[in-house]
Amino acid sequence: MYENARSAAQDLRERRQTLRESLPPLLPLAQKVARVHGAHDPYLEKVTVLLGALAERVTDHLDREDLLWPVERSGPAGTADAVILKADHVEVRMLLYELRAAAGGYVPPDWACGSYRRLLYGLERLHAELFLQMEIENQTLSS
Ligand SMILES: [Fe+2]
Repeated sequence: MYENARSAAQDLRERRQTLRESLPPLLPLAQKVARVHGAHDPYLEKVTVLLGALAERVTDHLDREDLLWPVERSGPAGTADAVILKADHVEVRMLLYELRAAAGGYVPPDWACGSYRRLLYGLERLHAELFLQMEIENQTLSS
């Protein structure tokens, strides 16, 4: 898939940067949609809480990766570091499953406004980006 370890690490670094940019705007959007439509759709409050927890968890994890898995290296230095990063991935995956369930599989209800649809589209993209990144990383961490 990659020409060398450096290009793999560079790709992962760019993916981390994309996540750092795409995640933060989703939280205020979720809060706004929950504020406007929460009475009509009680799951929106849960979506907001789970997204907040996910954002915190992913941000911590990305910081940890920057530290343990810098771009100059093909992977974390030690087995213990790899175990820590893989455990993070398990937690993030569980949060994503919960988020997707709370968000109705990211399928907007018929009455959803533009903001609600934009939120679900953003969450679905985030879900896909995170899963792909963790898949790529787990392959490297296991090899
Ligand atoms: Fe990761």
